[in-house]
Amino acid sequence: MNMRAFFIVLFSFIIPLPQATCEGMFAASAGQGSWHFLQQSIGISAMHMQLLHNDKVVIYDRTDFGSSNISLPGCHCRHDPGDMALRVDCTAHSVLYDVVANSFRPLMVHTDTWCSSGAVLPNGTLVQTGGFNDGDRVVRTFTPCEDDSCDWVEHPNLLSERRWYASNQILPDGRIIIIGGRNQYNYEFYPRGYNSPSTFRLDFLFGTRDDVEDNLYPFVHLLTDGNLFIFANTRAISLDYHTNRIVKEFPPIAGGDPRNYPSSGSSVLLPLDENKGPIQAEVLICGGAPPGAFARVVRNGIFTRALASCGRLRVTDSNPSWVMESMPLTRVMGDMLLLPNGDVMIINGADMGTAGWESARSPVTRPVIYRPINVNNERFAVMSPSSRPRMYHSAAILLADGRVLVGGSNPHIGYNFDAEFPTDLSLEAYSPPYLSTEYEPVRPRIVHSDPVMGYGLPFSVTFTVQQYLTAAVLSVNIIAPSFTTHSYGMNQRMVILRMSDVSPATHNTYNVVAVGPSAAEIAPPGYYLLFVLHAGVPSSGIWVRIK
Ligand SMILES: *[C@@H]1O[C@H](CO)[C@@H](O)[C@H](O)[C@H]1NC(C)=O
Ligand SMILES: *[C@@H]1O[C@H](CO)[C@@H](O)[C@H](O)[C@H]1NC(C)=O
Repeated sequence: MNMRAFFIVLFSFIIPLPQATCEGMFAASAGQGSWHFLQQSIGISAMHMQLLHNDKVVIYDRTDFGSSNISLPGCHCRHDPGDMALRVDCTAHSVLYDVVANSFRPLMVHTDTWCSSGAVLPNGTLVQTGGFNDGDRVVRTFTPCEDDSCDWVEHPNLLSERRWYASNQILPDGRIIIIGGRNQYNYEFYPRGYNSPSTFRLDFLFGTRDDVEDNLYPFVHLLTDGNLFIFANTRAISLDYHTNRIVKEFPPIAGGDPRNYPSSGSSVLLPLDENKGPIQAEVLICGGAPPGAFARVVRNGIFTRALASCGRLRVTDSNPSWVMESMPLTRVMGDMLLLPNGDVMIINGADMGTAGWESARSPVTRPVIYRPINVNNERFAVMSPSSRPRMYHSAAILLADGRVLVGGSNPHIGYNFDAEFPTDLSLEAYSPPYLSTEYEPVRPRIVHSDPVMGYGLPFSVTFTVQQYLTAAVLSVNIIAPSFTTHSYGMNQRMVILRMSDVSPATHNTYNVVAVGPSAAEIAPPGYYLLFVLHAGVPSSGIWVRIK
């Protein structure tokens, strides 16, 4: 061990770690991560968030809230006779947040984006679909740029159906599928195909409604066989969208509790490992609310305790069955995010009630980390708390440097700063324990990589590390960033790549040759964050484009 590492280890074990100092700037110990306040106000509440490949985050809420706290660029105003709150509105309802500079600028949306969905095309352009009122059939695109010139471009009437609370998934051929939404028991594609119907019926969505719906924002994951896993309420199917055929009906999640909006749990596809052949796919769903919870809040004002349970289903098994586990904290409206070390973060949400206006209380400020590779009962760890409640209409996304960007929370029908859970316009970052300085000696730093990764083709990455252990503790993985809204990160997926060679270059510098994903069903084309992991400690991510 060199002297520097020795002192770092000495420091972290002998000297007690600082406790909650600097007004929450650095709360609790490294073992539970730390919170950092980024912006007191970005002018809007972060209801929807997407990280783009230039490390800027598109954030938006809705246009019919009335005024936001940020003016439109260039003193523009929006004239919208159909707006329910404000016909002439000179405030912005979308911003672009620059992660590196920690700054933001207003963007212009013309029509209502409330409770909509999105996905990023293989070329890096964000496609946002639907919303409410005058915006429910609009597609909006945002193409990232290096200066301040880019803004939303709106394409009216591009959707064949109204899409409000729908879910999107990028497909292996680069199209986007848009599934469901309120009163929509069907799906469609962007771009729309020629010579084919524009809408495809999906009776499964009709069959999973209950008296309060509980099947909105269905959880959709692209499976390794190219079919789509779709989970709504308590049930799950595998859909062949090419032929509009349900290939398989999975057993309902054990316990019979609803998991989708407004009983919002969350879901991820666990990391796909190219080193295991055939590749296994597992879906994890956590949290939600018991049956009838939403109706009890809105009809009787009774707040029901949220669920503690998670269900894990190995969908590639021939007869899969749900394995149930218990989170250490109950949670509804938790966001689930894949972290670069393969763990799953569950963050934001509440302990009582459901999603919806004024429908929850008792915020859960402590994130939980789930370690899928550990044995059952040793998978969860409780992390240090945020200073802010992040309930209905909050969001969280992974950033390239491994932090988690957290914003929003607005359980009110308009902006209300004078309530028990006020409208929150701030941004915070949560740093998971792997970012702790005690891991610096073993943290890899990527110094070079190929910009483009081909399917099944070699890809080289060069990194430095102070203390190299062995190739056995090295891995290379890619993560597709999520479009997050309403406690669900659409399109996120992680692939652990095969490595074909590791060789030392100069002092402390190593070359790794990884192999691009085996197929577009494993990782659809587009921009991914690539991380090198050494002894479980991730590097900062760099952007690679898979073609
Ligand atoms: C937003 O603007 C309103 C009205 O000007 C003000 O009362 C409120 O404090 C502002 N909120 C934040 C978080 O900046
Ligand atoms: C990506 O493709 C879309 C749809 O064809 C197009 O509108 C957009 O400009 C393209 N973006 C880039 C960065 O070329």
